Amino acid sequence: MRWTVSVVATAASTYALDLFAAAAGALVVASGVLGGLSHSWVVAVLVASYLVWALGLRTNLRANGALLAATGTSTNVLSKAAYDLTRRFTRRAGAPRVAAAVAYAGTEVVKELPYYAAAFGAAAATSAITTTDALVFLAGANLGAAVYEYGLGRLTAGFLRRRFASFETDWQPRRYLTDYYSAVEPDELATITYLVAALREAERDRPILFFGVGPTLHHVFAAAEVASEIHLGDYLPANLTELQRWVDRAPDAHDWRPFVRYTLRCEGISDPTDAEVTLREDLTRKKITELIVLDARSEHPTDVVYSTVVSPYCADSATDNLSTWRELMRNITGLVEPGGLFITAALHRCTFYSVGGRRFPSANIGSEDLRAALEPDFDCAIEVCSTGQETAHGYGSVLLAHARRRELSHAQSR
Ligand SMILES: C[S@@+](CC[C@H](N)C(=O)[O-])C[C@H]1O[C@@H](n2cnc3c(N)ncnc32)[C@H](O)[C@@H]1O
Repeated sequence: MRWTVSVVATAASTYALDLFAAAAGALVVASGVLGGLSHSWVVAVLVASYLVWALGLRTNLRANGALLAATGTSTNVLSKAAYDLTRRFTRRAGAPRVAAAVAYAGTEVVKELPYYAAAFGAAAATSAITTTDALVFLAGANLGAAVYEYGLGRLTAGFLRRRFASFETDWQPRRYLTDYYSAVEPDELATITYLVAALREAERDRPILFFGVGPTLHHVFAAAEVASEIHLGDYLPANLTELQRWVDRAPDAHDWRPFVRYTLRCEGISDPTDAEVTLREDLTRKKITELIVLDARSEHPTDVVYSTVVSPYCADSATDNLSTWRELMRNITGLVEPGGLFITAALHRCTFYSVGGRRFPSANIGSEDLRAALEPDFDCAIEVCSTGQETAHGYGSVLLAHARRRELSHAQSR
């Protein structure tokens, strides 16, 4: 579907650009505005028109990168191919966008060639058209193309703004913390209770990966006694910076103590003292050994596999598209070693959630989607838990699941 949309958008955009640029070129020649200029001045205008064109193209390249990240579609099908291929073969966070921009710009440069051929061909074929006329036509076509690229970029950015906010440009870690983690809300009462129980089945004294942890630590405290090390991964460096501030005891770092207290209660301490809460915070700080930028869209977000991966509210909260969600889940669960444990949570049948007044996408999944995603490789248990937060957050229940990856069969391991 995303390829079809991209192919149609590419065809429409190519024809529209052609029409726009050719009309602008013809208009500038016919108007005679540059008629009185000497040949060298016309060359200077042509060079300047390329700079204007590059500026217009820059706006469109940025918007195209955001469009690819948010929807997997593009107005240039080669750009989409470059983006998808780079994502498959590299883990560097910005690389797919750079590849998409290079492919897009390259195609636009190649599209210039027919204009040169037409302009200079016409100048060679008839004495009524001079090479200066040809250069004036090209300068006009460039200006038309600049306006077109700029307009398409603004249109794309406007479409994305209306649809969903983007993690790259709109995500505010601090705002997320104040909107969702000023108190322990019903979804987290359920999630932390579940997590504490599920982690009892984790292999002890091995590193545990939290994938898509965001700027949060409320799920992490439950792993402190089980894990030899805790690795925290997220797509956004700004989220990891927020985590580092807590590890470094920055005075204005988020206060997670109510969540630590609740975690200890779930573990069986009926009334945890301040000292016990501090002890768990200190242990967690000691166990956090890695903060890693990880992209769930990459087929192998990291080379390491783990005996336990915990990924609550990540894949489902990163896209509104069910097939993208499946792909993210495949990539995240791919980090669980055979026999290892995967623990997850997701908003249940929810299409968006808000942070700082901006809407972020949710994949609208049900328990049957989660089961279908996990069952090919895992033995899983899934619960739907009602939280009654429709008014506050727009979702009324959450999915909670833990799953054991099946050992490789003899045939698979060969
Ligand atoms: C709703 S937040 C959840 C954060 C945390 N797990 C929690 O329970 O509060 C969704 C997180 O997914 C992360 N995310 C979005 N796209 C991602 C991607 N492609 N790869 C990894 N993480 C991603 C975002 O940066 C954000 O931190």
